[in-house]
Amino acid sequence: MANSPLPPSSRAIGTVAMRWHGASLELLDQRLLPMEEHWITVEGASGVSQCIRDMVVRGAPAIGISAAYGVALAARHAGGGDWKAEIKQAIRELAASRPTAVNLFWALQRMERVFHKCHSLDEASKRLAAEAVTIHEDDLAANLAMAGNALEVMHPEAPISVLTHCNTGALATGGYGTALGVIRRLHEKNLLTMVYADETRPWLQGSRLTAWELAQDSIPVTLNADGAAAAILAQGDVRWVVVGADRITANGDVANKIGTYSLAVLARHHKVGFMVVAPSSTIDMSLAAGTDIPIEERDGSEVREIRGIPLAPEGIKVFNPVFDVTPASLIDAIVTEKGVVHNPNITGMRDLFG
Ligand code: MRU
Repeated sequence: MANSPLPPSSRAIGTVAMRWHGASLELLDQRLLPMEEHWITVEGASGVSQCIRDMVVRGAPAIGISAAYGVALAARHAGGGDWKAEIKQAIRELAASRPTAVNLFWALQRMERVFHKCHSLDEASKRLAAEAVTIHEDDLAANLAMAGNALEVMHPEAPISVLTHCNTGALATGGYGTALGVIRRLHEKNLLTMVYADETRPWLQGSRLTAWELAQDSIPVTLNADGAAAAILAQGDVRWVVVGADRITANGDVANKIGTYSLAVLARHHKVGFMVVAPSSTIDMSLAAGTDIPIEERDGSEVREIRGIPLAPEGIKVFNPVFDVTPASLIDAIVTEKGVVHNPNITGMRDLFG
């Protein structure tokens, strides 16, 4: 593919969530998976922002990378008049798309730093596109590094089973995946017996996306209702619960997909390891604790119905926070590309992230 954001060595990596073409961005519409593989062409920052809000593209790192491409598109299509104001407006719009994943704001800050150094629209157009591609490539490299770091923590001597939640794979990242990248690496090394994938109500990232990704790569997967996780852990086969993150605060608290917190409680009860795998772009040392993280609430229709089919009485009141916060005390390891924080607390986080 021309203008591929991925280095040649990694192009054979399989599923991707986005394709960059210089003047446009293609996003795989994750709302339609696994029934339909439909690519949407986005030509401006407003379109990217809308796609993030509507969850055409989702997953913390993928949101950040798409937003970076959104800024690059804003420069590419700026009118030539007050181009600086146009790019600033695009950054504001992208920042308002979703509130919880800090990777979005991290990527926009990186783009903003480059933008402030540009003296002409032509320069901005070239440099912002290059920066977005670098953000994309860095994320893939981080995922590959994290998989190695995670296996050093797990050091399984024989194949193990793991349980995961939501989708943290190629669809949620620049490629390969975070928690799902660890699972891929276990499989590559013949160290994986089974992945139990929580279906992840209400948006069904587990059943629609994770099960699809794993099946595509012939990685053994068993899909389970979220409520079955306790029974699975009680059976004693699962050695690790492995999840991703949307934001990790200075004390090691982790915001991730709703239902992650209950898994951490279950893992501790059953003496199963609980591992969070996330690139350092997910770390937010500016927030002291998880209680400071803005938690997105989405429309009640996501719980009340599925593709327009009612699942509950019409108009019933719904509470639909789409993330929860797992306290650091329930986490055995936070694995990043920069290293691992064991039994996370403020000291361990500061040692690695300053
Ligand atoms: O609402 P989503 O699908 O964007 O939520 C995604 C998650 O919670 C993931 O676990 C997280 O972003 C990590 S993805 C590598």
